[in-house]
Amino acid sequence: MSEIAKKTQVVIVGGGPAGSLLALLLHQQDVESVILELRSRDHVLERVRAGVIEYGSGATLREAGLAARMDREGFVHEGVNLAFSDRLLHIDFERLTGKHVIVYGQTQLQRDLYDAIDRAGITLVDEAEGVDLHDVDGGSPRVTFSQDGAEREITCDYIAGCDGVHSTTRDHIPDSIRQTFERLYPFVWVGLLSETPPVSDELIYANHPDGFALCSMRNENLSRYYVQGSAEDTTDDWPDDRFWETLKARLPRAVSDRLVTGPSVEKLVTPLRSWVSEPLRHGRLFLAGDAAHIVPPTGAKGLNLAISDVVYLAEALAGFYATGDETGLEEYSDRALARVWKAVRFSWWMTSTMHRFPGMSNDFDRRLQKTELEYLFSSENGQRSMAENYVGLPL
Ligand code: FAD
Ligand code: DHB
Repeated sequence: MSEIAKKTQVVIVGGGPAGSLLALLLHQQDVESVILELRSRDHVLERVRAGVIEYGSGATLREAGLAARMDREGFVHEGVNLAFSDRLLHIDFERLTGKHVIVYGQTQLQRDLYDAIDRAGITLVDEAEGVDLHDVDGGSPRVTFSQDGAEREITCDYIAGCDGVHSTTRDHIPDSIRQTFERLYPFVWVGLLSETPPVSDELIYANHPDGFALCSMRNENLSRYYVQGSAEDTTDDWPDDRFWETLKARLPRAVSDRLVTGPSVEKLVTPLRSWVSEPLRHGRLFLAGDAAHIVPPTGAKGLNLAISDVVYLAEALAGFYATGDETGLEEYSDRALARVWKAVRFSWWMTSTMHRFPGMSNDFDRRLQKTELEYLFSSENGQRSMAENYVGLPL
């Protein structure tokens, strides 16, 4: 790797989708940055995560020249299906909103971002350990870290904390300023990847009295499925046979009859929670993506929020360097949070509507959930609202 600069305009901590895209958007507007990533590239590229790219996220990637492979290999989905009481409701995004989503694995997107970073000659330091921030609220911030045992320091104008859910950059926002908002859901998702043809060419989100299930895909011979599990479950509790049996039981008969099962090639357990840390700025530090907020995966919003945050942040930083005007930087936190909270609301609504909550039998909450779904099945306005949020609110 080439020599690491001792000074740059923006140090970006974290080379996931938020950090990588931020560096590229800044580069395109002549702002220099260095990315510090804790893990190796292979590690980052092996994490199987998101699959749904909102319409506006797709447009952002296209405008930035980062969508060639996504447009070639990703799948345009003009709708999704909701399953309830052995019935399927097709939500037709194109008809209701004129928009669609793209199913394209985060792993693939991350690879595209890394390739573009290499082509642009942006420095991405991987396996950067012990990243620490100094003088965040003063005039000359610095970032120290070690790589291959050597201690390094970079001075900069601004720092972007894009270091994901376990962010340490976030800790530099003093407790006296920081507010956190949290909702924990009392269950997990168990996810399985299998080299089998997807059961449906569109996603199916299923509400079943025993629990939630989701059918997704990566390509013609790679399926991604999820089922709701108990809060304390680990992957050991979910051998393949149990997973397939559970999934089958939670899908409408017409769907489960054509489900093709096979050995898992990956399996994970992911907790469901909403968590927002405010504000997104302190002094010269800005937070973006999972470092600042987590949503339960039901609404498919996490990656898309990482993208919208960094679009706003890149605009604000580039605006400052072009004109010296700090207004964009001052407005970043409120602007990004306004969109974040709409995604928190939608993810909460999807999660509350589609899952079985412990203690829920024929009680008030179950009746409400049933009524919510009956309403959706019968109301085009209800469907349009769901579609509008799922394809993504405008940036
Ligand atoms: P991350 O991807 O977590 O990247 C942060 C990076 O920072 C990591 O590479 C990490 O190694 C690095 N890092 C951490 N600490 C340090 C440190 N101290 N120093 C340097 N680097 C550090 N979202 C959607 O939009 N649609 C979906 O369909 C969807 N499905 C999901 C399904 C599952 C099962 C899961 C788990 C998530 C899903 N998400 C989805 C969420 C999405 O994956 C995340 O929101 C997204 O990865 C956020 O990107 P990020 O760059 O902010 O964080
Ligand atoms: C996928 C993940 C999600 O969280 C979701 O809501 C839809 C699809 C996926 O991994 O394909």
